[in-house]
Amino acid sequence: MHLTVILAVLFHSCSAEEQIRMTLLGLKPFSSEVDKHYQCHTKPIHSDWIDASLESFRTGWTRDTASDNPPPPIPDFHSMDYFPHYKIHLPNNDNNYGFGVFGCGINRTGKFQNVNISTVRMRSDAYITPGNELVTQTVNIGDKGVNITMNIQSNGQNLIWRHNNTVAKMQRTSNTVTFSISGPIQLNHSGIYECHVDGERHQARHGLNLLLVRGK
Ligand SMILES: *[C@@H]1O[C@H](CO)[C@@H](O)[C@H](O)[C@H]1NC(C)=O
Ligand SMILES: *[C@@H]1O[C@H](CO)[C@@H](O)[C@H](O)[C@H]1NC(C)=O
Ligand SMILES: *[C@@H]1O[C@H](CO)[C@@H](O)[C@H](O)[C@H]1NC(C)=O
Ligand SMILES: *[C@@H]1O[C@H](CO)[C@@H](O)[C@H](O)[C@H]1NC(C)=O
Ligand SMILES: *[C@@H]1O[C@H](CO)[C@@H](O)[C@H](O)[C@H]1NC(C)=O
Repeated sequence: MHLTVILAVLFHSCSAEEQIRMTLLGLKPFSSEVDKHYQCHTKPIHSDWIDASLESFRTGWTRDTASDNPPPPIPDFHSMDYFPHYKIHLPNNDNNYGFGVFGCGINRTGKFQNVNISTVRMRSDAYITPGNELVTQTVNIGDKGVNITMNIQSNGQNLIWRHNNTVAKMQRTSNTVTFSISGPIQLNHSGIYECHVDGERHQARHGLNLLLVRGK
């Protein structure tokens, strides 16, 4: 009788419904050309779930060509550290391969399940930076008057705003520029907002903002 109960509990704790928790540690958002990694903390997946893996990814393009937007390498598991974690080493910082928006997801039976976190990385000498140095903003479905603001260090040039890699607006530079989202927030307003000088996106010195939209 006792044995049956124990087995049922074990089976339940391994079932597909189990919630997997993860924390992403994105170190210093304004040092993409110096700092080479980010970390994802979760329990050691490979020893607990044979059908799961931790994936790293580039959340979206933030430069012009595929070769300027390479995917991050496969995470290394650091089991001996005080807090075991997965570490993603971003290579070739001279090429700015560490600039952009990167994340971790847990791929379980071939599908990400509910765990998907991103971190934003810009250069320390970026000449366009998000207002108040807020690299992400969280809003709710239905919110009105949501603005994405950037501070700019050079005047009089043509600026391009992008949402998820697609051009969304053109503007002339001034010290502060704003992208106003018209109407109430919907889920598809979420994603990566970029503001760059026309023709200079490849330099990786522009501003990024990740908008997270909380559902109801
Ligand atoms: C997690 O983000 C990546 C990159 O944007 C995407 O490919 C994947 O579909 C996302 N998964 C979920 C569950 O949202
Ligand atoms: C997830 O796992 C499946 C099956 O192992 C694999 O085909 C796929 O490439 C993995 N990665 C992503 C991002 O789905
Ligand atoms: C967003 O920008 C618009 C236009 O500049 C302004 O009218 C509105 O007050 C701003 N909203 C917030 C919340 O600051
Ligand atoms: C932008 O990307 C986010 C995250 O992948 C997605 O949820 C959203 O629907 C996308 N919106 C558009 C307009 O592409
Ligand atoms: C977002 O989704 C709404 C419908 O829910 C649609 O009307 C709108 O065109 C979409 N916006 C974009 C930028 O895809």
